[in-house]
Formats: sequence, C-alpha cells, structure tokens
Amino acid sequence: MRWLGIMLLSMTTAIAAHGSVTKSEYGKMPDGTAVDLYTLKSDGIEAQVMTYGARVVAIKTPDRDGKIGDVVLGYSAFDGYLDDKSTYFGAIVGRYGNRIALGKFSLDGHSYQIPTNDHGNALHGGTDGFDKKVWQARPIADGVEMTLVSPDGDQGFPGTLTVHVRYTVHHGALRIDYLATTDKDTVVNLTNHSYFNLAGDGQGTILHDELTIPADSYTPVDSGLIPTGVIAPVEGTPFDFRKATVIGARIHDDNEQLKLAGGYDQNWVLRGKNGETKTAARVYDPVSGRVLTVTTTQPGVQFYTGNFLAGKKYGKAQQGYGKNAALCLETQHFPDSPNHPAFPTTELKPGETLHSTTTFTFSTHAK
Ligand code: GLA
Repeated sequence: MRWLGIMLLSMTTAIAAHGSVTKSEYGKMPDGTAVDLYTLKSDGIEAQVMTYGARVVAIKTPDRDGKIGDVVLGYSAFDGYLDDKSTYFGAIVGRYGNRIALGKFSLDGHSYQIPTNDHGNALHGGTDGFDKKVWQARPIADGVEMTLVSPDGDQGFPGTLTVHVRYTVHHGALRIDYLATTDKDTVVNLTNHSYFNLAGDGQGTILHDELTIPADSYTPVDSGLIPTGVIAPVEGTPFDFRKATVIGARIHDDNEQLKLAGGYDQNWVLRGKNGETKTAARVYDPVSGRVLTVTTTQPGVQFYTGNFLAGKKYGKAQQGYGKNAALCLETQHFPDSPNHPAFPTTELKPGETLHSTTTFTFSTHAK
C-alpha cells in the first residue's frame, strides 16, 4: 500500500512537471474557416500559438519577483491580426522571410518573380505569405505541430513546399523546429517574427535593454534594406554587440546604416557553422530582471528595433505601440541570399529535408 501511494504520488508529479497542451477557438476567417489557439504550459512558461500564420500570440513568464507578464506584442482579439498587413506580429514568415531584391531571382536557369510589397522589393514571402495562411495543427508532446502545404507557384515560388513548424515548451523555454520538403528545386527562408518586450507588452520601449549578439560581422544594406553583398566587421561600429550594450546607447549615432533603417534592422552573421546550435542573442531588461537567450542552428539573425511601429494604434490593451516598443530577433538565412551566391545557400531540392531549430529561453537576473 505504502509503495503504491509513493508510486501514485511520483506519477502525479511527473505529469504536473510535464506541462499541458490545450486547444480553444480563437476566431474565424472571412470565409468562415475556424482559427484555433493552442496554449502550451510548462514550468516557468506559458505560450499561446494560433493557426492563423502559425503565430505566437502570448508568452507569459515570471519577472525577478515572480510576477507573470506577457512579453510579446499582439492584439486583444483575432480581428486585429487579420486587419494588420504590416507588422507580422508573432508570425512564421515564408517562403522567404526578409527581402528579395525586386522580388526576382533565378534558379536552374529559370527566372522567378515574387510579388513586391516593400519599396519595390519582396518582403516576407510576398503579398500573401505564410503569415496570412491558416495552418493545420495537431497536438504533440509538450506542444503543437503546425503544417502548411504551399502549392507549386505559390507567390511565384517553384515547387510544392510542405512545411511543419513544431512549437514546444520546456523549463522556461519555447523551442521552434522547422521542417520543409519540396518536389522541385526552390528557395526557402523560414523564421518567427515575434516582437519581444521583456518588461511586458505595452510597457515602454526596449531602448534600455542590454543586448549581446556574439557576431563579428553583419550584412550592411542599401536604401531598400537589401544587403549590398559585403560582409562587414562590427568592430568599431554601433553594430558591435559582442559585449552586452544598452540598445539605446548608439541607436541615434551619426551612422549611415542606422539612418537607412531608422534604427537597427540588419542581419548579423553568427559565429559557427550553419546547422550547428549557437547563441544568436541575449537580452536583459534591468527593470523586470527578465533575460531572453536565443539559440539557433541558423547562420544569421535579423535584429529589428520596431522602427516602423510609430504612430500606429494597436495592442493587447489597445493602448497603441510606439517606435521601439519591442525588438525582434529573427533567426534566419541572410536576406536576398538567392541573389548572393557567396551567402549560405537557401536552396532546397527534392529528397532533402530542411531542419532548423531556434529556442527562446527565459530566465531572470537579480538586481
Ligand atoms: C522585418 C524587416 C523590417 C520590417 C519588419 C516588419 O523585421 O526587416 O524591415 O519590415 O520585418 O514590419
């Protein structure tokens, strides 16, 4: 009897520590398609993900005093996401996250044209990218798997692309696994576009946060935010985050790259090999004590300081977000790689499986 009691007790503990995955209805598309919300809980983290755009809707984590806060930007209800065509809050962006110059590239001697939606360039997969699709979802251990089949010719891209994105939670961390296969040669660049504010959604700007990016170089851009092709050293520039630096300390420096982007909106070249797990960034908010550590198998990270948020009215409390109300750390292949043969390749061929992993780990730091 005593042993049975101990056994039962330990089983309950194991289940409790394992966390939970629940599903609820979140909204409806204009054609009536249901959009579902999955709530993933584990110790130290609760994440909500919806099937529209496979978007992260909320990430709740404790601050240094144990107070729970939601650290990503979004809307109070589904309609907000549907109306917003420019922020990509929480979305999986694809097929090609970030920019392709003039929306054009060639592959195997064929030219392809992607709809242009950003100053004559294609941004985040064109006008009707993965962020605007309703994904199929199924619960998996510790999370949810979202699936999207993008047909041959979708937004001009060649090949039927089958994408699985797995969101799982483990001990204060949200892990995202991306898998993709194709039936024709194509190009792919998938990332997640969450906007983080470690002080909590709507709590001021991220300019006082301390950021570390362990990267020795970055890819400078032209006026359309397309990489020039140069891999430039960060040494001696406001792009050097190899030592923890306050984000706002140099953001207004007299620097051409910062002026072109209206803040930070560039790709950093991460150390280590493409495919190996490495640290992409660490952010510390001294007010809440929250720390975000991003690890990835991807070769780059786009650090974006929410430069285009200014003046727009949105928010979970409908309070509106100003410029720099959040930061994005989009782990990715370099922008416009299909037009830069020297950049790590984004080509995917039939028979290959693309697999990348990015993990967002939340912890706290004492005062
Ligand atoms: C990425 C881009 C930015 C901006 C946002 C969406 O971060 O690099 O320039 O387009 O997406 O607003």
